[in-house]
Amino acid sequence: MTQSTLDNLSREDRRFPPPDDLAAHANVTADAYDHAEKDRLGFWAEAASRLTWATEPKTVLDDSRAPFYRWFPDGELNVSYNCIDRHVEAGNGDRVAIHWVGEPLDTGSNEHRRDLTYAQLKDEVSRAANALISLGVQDGDRVAIYMPMIPEAVIAMQACARIGAVHTVVFGGFSAEALAARIEDCQAKVVITSDGGYRRGAPAALKPAVDEAVTKVGGAVEHVVVVRRTGQDVTWNDDVDVWWHDVVDSQSTEHEPQPFNAEHPLFVMYTSGTTGKPKGILHTTGGYLTQASWTHHAVFDLKPETDVYWCTADVGWITGHSYIAYGPLANGVSQVLYEGTPDSPERGRWWKIIQDLKVTIFYTAPTAIRACMKQGDAIPGGFDLTSLRILGSVGEPINPEAYVWYRRVIGGDRAPVVDTWWQTETGAIMISPLPGVTHGKPGSAMTPLPGISADVVDDKGESVPNGSGGYLVVTEPWPSMLRTIWGDDDRYVDTYWSMFKATEDRAAFYFAGDGAKKDEDGDLWVLGRVDDVMNVSGHRLSTTEIESALVSHPAVAESAVVGATDVDTGQAVVAFVILKEGVDAEGIERKLSDHVRSEIGPIAKPREIMIVPELPKTRSGKIMRRLLRDVAEKRDVGDTTTLADASIMQLISAGQSTNTGD
Ligand code: WT7
Repeated sequence: MTQSTLDNLSREDRRFPPPDDLAAHANVTADAYDHAEKDRLGFWAEAASRLTWATEPKTVLDDSRAPFYRWFPDGELNVSYNCIDRHVEAGNGDRVAIHWVGEPLDTGSNEHRRDLTYAQLKDEVSRAANALISLGVQDGDRVAIYMPMIPEAVIAMQACARIGAVHTVVFGGFSAEALAARIEDCQAKVVITSDGGYRRGAPAALKPAVDEAVTKVGGAVEHVVVVRRTGQDVTWNDDVDVWWHDVVDSQSTEHEPQPFNAEHPLFVMYTSGTTGKPKGILHTTGGYLTQASWTHHAVFDLKPETDVYWCTADVGWITGHSYIAYGPLANGVSQVLYEGTPDSPERGRWWKIIQDLKVTIFYTAPTAIRACMKQGDAIPGGFDLTSLRILGSVGEPINPEAYVWYRRVIGGDRAPVVDTWWQTETGAIMISPLPGVTHGKPGSAMTPLPGISADVVDDKGESVPNGSGGYLVVTEPWPSMLRTIWGDDDRYVDTYWSMFKATEDRAAFYFAGDGAKKDEDGDLWVLGRVDDVMNVSGHRLSTTEIESALVSHPAVAESAVVGATDVDTGQAVVAFVILKEGVDAEGIERKLSDHVRSEIGPIAKPREIMIVPELPKTRSGKIMRRLLRDVAEKRDVGDTTTLADASIMQLISAGQSTNTGD
């Protein structure tokens, strides 16, 4: 075994065939793989014809300046026209585009519940576009959006797209500091925000962070547009601040969308790098919208006339861009937009929304699924979830137990689960089952979608055989790929294209930062960031597989595993475990340790198991293993500024640690 491979530890034998009815009417069938295999560019050209182009592209891909690839470089289109106007022109103006649900329960006053049809969305987006123009925003200018999950967030994004302005949406949970760094990096001249939003049962302010950020960047921001959502007090600076209702509501609902080149920038989405300042991932229009639209149609088997789709992500993340603001609107479906958390004002809030709005397709993250699983089956069991026909998962590896629970309890053993692998950088889904074609295998994202070429390779870039692990790479360019890091072309090349450089026979591979394995059938299992891999006595172990083994024990709700320095073995496995509610904790560490030993083998047995009340997570729900390594190695805990809840580390450090011996 070389250092580049990962040990293949776990086995999973459960299989779920596609439901007959779904397979019989599936949007995409197995032929798509053959078609794309024979003619990859022809396949994407056909996918691009899902869009309405002002100038049809003649060229599919320009690779003359690789890795600065250009897709449909001679085509022209308007993204907002594609997401809105064309549906109205096709006679679907009365279809609901957004079923908006605020966090406080509906009082019947329209304050916390709103349905916007495509025709109404067209008027609202046109007004907002005219308002931005009146504030001096021109195509190519940057606009920062810092908002709760309210319709105006999507309207603002679409308004920018409509006039060719470049938006950067900053998640509302980020600090003033983080917001300022992003405004500064992309030189945004307008910020769109709100007084606040409802979160966990109370109004949470946003405007103070904007005020602080605007002061920090010193004069770069010309205007701050403020939506009134909660009615809370705000401090006001007449030089820059304007109310949304003052500047937008008086505008005309007429706005003629102009076509832009397919490589015109659409947005910059910041994502954290391993070092230093966040990377501004740049996405452009034609290729991005092609892949966002096609994958949403294919992976969710979307039927816009009848489906009610709901993605729970925040618009501050890439998932909220591709699978709320762009893909679903380009496809003309009705979707739910929800402001709050899954358990406010009461547990089961999500399931009630699914029941009330008859949601058919539901897309969420493993961290949320495990949190619901921890509360037990009775809560979702109290709601009618029979409208659901497809369930999606994204954001991190979904461990088999969570997958099986999601399918059984939420999906009624009827709705297939699609585990979708992709990244901020890839722009859209890359590896996923097709629900009418692929057998589901709990824990596996299965195979690259038609038109996508991905592989698992060793450190020389050679494809590894089935049954082995290595680095996950994308071997051919794809339409929704990032184009560069905003303002830093060198960092783009260094970060993504330098690990597997071009050779005489092939172009450079895109290295995604993830480790993966191919199982005996050649299906892919994404094992998380390679930085999270441990080395125990010369064996490279994936944290994900040990975490999955722990969560497969009936007492465990969630776990995180790290490698801690060990004098004997180089690194040793240290596990942090959250128990399910009402579980007897007596002697549990020993039982769990034995369980891992029997599930995976002695090599993976944790040296230490710590029972904790919570795990440290970023605001997008990813576990911060770096902080847990600090605890495991008994160091002071490092930088916690990106933690969703800073108090968690004290709880964890104060907890009991148990040495499991031998
Ligand atoms: C990283 C990208 C994709 C949008 C949300 C996150 C991990 C994502 C999966 C999955 C295993 C996954 C990877 C990836 N990841 N989806 N289905 N199975 N891992 O976007 O913040 O850019 O994070 O999330 O490690 O590289 P992101």
